[in-house]
Amino acid sequence: MKLAVVGGGSTYTPELVDGLARLRDALPVTELVLADPARDRLEPVGGLARRILARAGHPATVTTTSDLDAAVADVDAVLLQLRVGGQAARERDETWPLECGCVGQETTGAGGLAKALRTVPVVLDIAERVRRANPDAWIVDFTNPVGIVTRALLNEGHRAVGLCNVAIGLQRKFAALLDVRPDEVHLDHVGLNHLTWETGVRLGGPDGTDVLPRLLAEHGGTIAADLRLPKALLDRLGVVPSYYLRYFYAHDEVVAEMRTRPSRAAEVAAMERRLLEMYADPALDTKPELLAERGGAYYSEAAVALVAALLGDGGRGVQVVNVRNAGTLPFLPDDAVVEVPAEVTPAGAEPLPVPALSPLHAGLVSAVTAYEHLALEAALHGGRDRVFAALLAHPLVGQYALAEGLTDRLIAHNREHLAWA
Ligand code: G6P
Ligand code: MN
Repeated sequence: MKLAVVGGGSTYTPELVDGLARLRDALPVTELVLADPARDRLEPVGGLARRILARAGHPATVTTTSDLDAAVADVDAVLLQLRVGGQAARERDETWPLECGCVGQETTGAGGLAKALRTVPVVLDIAERVRRANPDAWIVDFTNPVGIVTRALLNEGHRAVGLCNVAIGLQRKFAALLDVRPDEVHLDHVGLNHLTWETGVRLGGPDGTDVLPRLLAEHGGTIAADLRLPKALLDRLGVVPSYYLRYFYAHDEVVAEMRTRPSRAAEVAAMERRLLEMYADPALDTKPELLAERGGAYYSEAAVALVAALLGDGGRGVQVVNVRNAGTLPFLPDDAVVEVPAEVTPAGAEPLPVPALSPLHAGLVSAVTAYEHLALEAALHGGRDRVFAALLAHPLVGQYALAEGLTDRLIAHNREHLAWA
């Protein structure tokens, strides 16, 4: 089985390779290709990947290349984990919206739109080349903004599933609090990528007993502290929002904080420099502790399980993924992409029915779905008016003057990545 990782020079790759090594029975990869235009990263990352697999006695070969078509020749599954423009572009996404009093974040709000505009055309080109190489190959997209990118891929008829680690992170967290195995915890995880709520926490499977009220009663303080949200808010909601909801529920507080701190991109860039130095050390054959300070915890587990289920080599049946809504959330268009538990088989990911979402959350989900539709239009067809419309529709923007100011900044800071600008 051949697996290609596009954006394979990412400092996250050792996390993924560690998962391949630990979960080798679930996913018998024989050939791992790391593809990346950044040759200087491929060498240290590829070297460490080989040593991690060798240490585990894993038989897969690891090759590195900047030639995408060579990377995807005869491939069975492709993982997309690229970042167009790197941390430098991310830093801009996290900075200029603050000038307008808006959150500066790589996936939420105006920064997320900028990322979508840079990313969608690049991902569609890659997907087309994957399809030419092997029309049966599966594409697993971890590239943000996952909801919009997955929608773009599905609209073009690609065999794609979107993946995020928020759900698996909460599953692990809740399992530890409840003192049960992670696979015993089924989440009623509902919403859009980076806009989700856990509305039930079931023991044993989708029909198991809902222990969310007990979890909140006994561990609400810990959960709230982790999310950096007031416990009183969680008590009111009665559900657990993802930490991305803090950008909505505590927007102005976050903006004030962001104005006093270095951006996350700057932090990550510093971490990446240290990580790449460590990876270059031929004595290192495990993923370093420092990697745990990145946001991608359990990404490896989620990705390996998903690819294993898609390729029919086992793996957990039900996984939280980004798929077509197709009636799952009845108040959204069928072609929207939602993030929900799905039954994953070689035929694809079929969303499971989810409990009805309270109007308290459904309104936000509707508004952001409309934004995502407009964001995709802007990413595909370009033009200032489309960028403006997407921003005006975003619930964190909404006002005319604000949308105008953000539109100008977005275009000015991303010109080199926007063919039409
Ligand atoms: C989580 C999110 C990802 C995001 C990452 C950022 O894993 O689910 O979508 O890319 O955090 O982590 P970083 O370490 O780059 O800030
Ligand atoms: Mn994510």
